[in-house]
Amino acid sequence: VKRITTHTLQEMKNRGEKIAMLTAYDYSMAAIVDAAGMDVILVGDSASNVMAGHETTLPITLDQMIYHASAVVRAARRALIVVDLPFGTYQGNSKEALASAIRIMKESGAHAVKLEGGIEIAESVSRILTAGIPVMGHLGLTPQSIYKFGTYTVRAKEDAEAQKLREDALKLQELGCFGIVLEKIPAALAKTVSESLVIPTIGIGAGQFCDGQVLVIHDMLGINKGFKPRFLRQYADLADVMNNAISNYVTDVKAKDFPNEKEQY
Ligand code: KIV
Ligand code: NA
Repeated sequence: VKRITTHTLQEMKNRGEKIAMLTAYDYSMAAIVDAAGMDVILVGDSASNVMAGHETTLPITLDQMIYHASAVVRAARRALIVVDLPFGTYQGNSKEALASAIRIMKESGAHAVKLEGGIEIAESVSRILTAGIPVMGHLGLTPQSIYKFGTYTVRAKEDAEAQKLREDALKLQELGCFGIVLEKIPAALAKTVSESLVIPTIGIGAGQFCDGQVLVIHDMLGINKGFKPRFLRQYADLADVMNNAISNYVTDVKAKDFPNEKEQY
């Protein structure tokens, strides 16, 4: 199989083919995601929530992201693998940003990094790009800034924030980002941004006009049962499937039904 690259994604936008992106954090899940035909696997810092149980993405460390990313890299044959730079490893100090990105590339073998923010992180984005490391942007609802926003509601509904987002998107493109995630913004805004950019946009809760879509795998598989925002389409009820299987196992053990004669040596 031929590996998807950042150039493949640009060609997909150029010919109007939508880009499919999904998160994964471990070997077994990434193997399934890759075999299903995913274009991009995101090793998101949402691992902080869905893998580690934290309330926000802020606590996850660079070492932990590298652990998740290296497991995903060992599984994926075709997908482009993008890894989130975690909170505190790139903002405000572009040399530290480059050092963090280099650690991810070297120690995990992933193909690109993703950073949250616009003009305020321009120096970090530029410096990472000088090392030949592809960078993906992330605008709109940026969960590492949750304590600034106060809530996880839709962003950029007002003109001033929408205008800043348009400027940030153009800036990220000008700096050399190969794509931008647009999270939880009005579809109309995501449409104008996607049309004004040459590089692809990947939306989550940003409507049908983005050049691609991304979801968190635990959400779309119904593992994360309590989380049902409007933008989420749930493709399976894995929590129910797993609960049935696991409670049947408990029952069989208690009933002395498992293991049976054929299931032993
Ligand atoms: O960490 C993550 O899963 C993400 C996606 C929601 C875009 O950044
Ligand atoms: Na993220």
